This record gives sequence, C-alpha cells and structure tokens, in this order.
Amino acid sequence: MKSKTLNLTLALSALALTAWAVAAPEKTHLARSVSTRKMADSVHAVIAADQRVYAETVARLAGAPGHAELLRDAGRSIQTHGAEFSYALRSLQPIAAHNGPQTEAEQTGLAFVAANPRDNYYTEEELGGRSYFTAIYAERATAAACVDCHNANPRSPRRDLKLGDVLGGIVVRVPLEF
Ligand code: HEC
Repeated sequence: MKSKTLNLTLALSALALTAWAVAAPEKTHLARSVSTRKMADSVHAVIAADQRVYAETVARLAGAPGHAELLRDAGRSIQTHGAEFSYALRSLQPIAAHNGPQTEAEQTGLAFVAANPRDNYYTEEELGGRSYFTAIYAERATAAACVDCHNANPRSPRRDLKLGDVLGGIVVRVPLEF
C-alpha cells in the first residue's frame, strides 16, 4: 500500500514537472536580431506572394505592366529609399535576355533550384569589393496563366512549359558589409 502511494506520488511529481517544463520553457533564446538568412527568406516570401497574385490576375489585363516589370520597378524604387537588400527575377532560359543569370552564383543557384525546386540556394559572393549574402528561390508555374502566357510569348525560348515547372528564380541579396 505504501509503495503504491509512493509510486503515485512520484508519478504525479513527474507529471507536474513535465507540465511545468512545458508551460514555462526557459527563455534562453530571446531573439534580439534577425539572421541574414531569415531576412532574405522573409523578403522572398513577400515578393513571391505579390508576384503570384499579380501574375495570376492583373498582369493579364490589357495595358497593365507585366509582373516582371512591376518587380523591377518596385526593386528600383526601394533602392532609392535606401533598402539594405535587393532582389531580381532571373531564369536560365528567360523571355527577356536581361533576366538571364548575371553572376556565377546566380548561374549555379538557378541550376540548383531548377533541379531541386523545394530547396533554396544560399551562398555568399563578392561584388564590386563588397560581400553579399545571396539567396535564390525557385519560381514555379503555380497557375495556368504563367504557363499560357510564357508559352505564347514570341520571345520565349520554351513552348512546352507545364503547370508546376520551374520558370526561373527570385534572387535576394543582403550586403554583409556596410
Ligand atoms: C501575361 C503574361 C505573363 C504571365 C501571366 C506570367 N508571366 Fe512571367 N514573364 C512574362 C514576360 C513578358 C516576362 C519577361 C518580361 C520582362 O522582363 O520585361 C516574364 C518573366 C518571367 C520570369 C523571368 C525570366 C524570363 O522569362 O524573362 C520568370 C521567372 C517568370 N516570368 C515566372 C512567371 C510565373 C511563375 C508566373 C505565374 C505565377 C508568370 N511568370 C506569369 C509574362 C508573363
């Protein structure tokens, strides 16, 4: 009888201890800054969401700027406002030549995300004497609109794109030196 009570007491204390540990985790990880990678991932999440919504809806309206043009204009605009990052839409087989890879890292990263669309490509590069953290994310054809418009474009080097194919990538750059 006694040992049963002891066992029960022990079991209850263990339970209480577990509950306490779950309810009051130690705050050893108080975030005081955002990592460069998290920053790049967040910048990408916003751009990708905007691009998707825009490309699937507005870009088809006559007279509206294309989604790639919108991204370029917005990217330029934030630069003039002193943003500490930059971004670009790129592809190894672009409709517009200016969207082709412009650095070795872009070339490697675009090939990587084309082969591994679920993974992102992260690296560092030195451009103009300055170090950058560079992240490359796959841009997939998420809607029929992407495929239809790209296949129909007379400048497109591809006519056989299907839903889900990787059309290129979004490159996000964060300077590591100021
Ligand atoms: C209404 C037509 C249209 C739609 C819809 C469209 N695109 Fe595009 N896309 C273009 C054009 C045109 C360009 C090149 C324009 C430029 O850079 O000035 C382009 C450029 C791109 C590029 C850069 C490489 C290149 O080919 O120049 C990527 C990547 C891309 N689009 C992905 C997508 C994805 C993903 C979707 C769907 C979510 C999509 N596009 C929807 C017309 C379209």
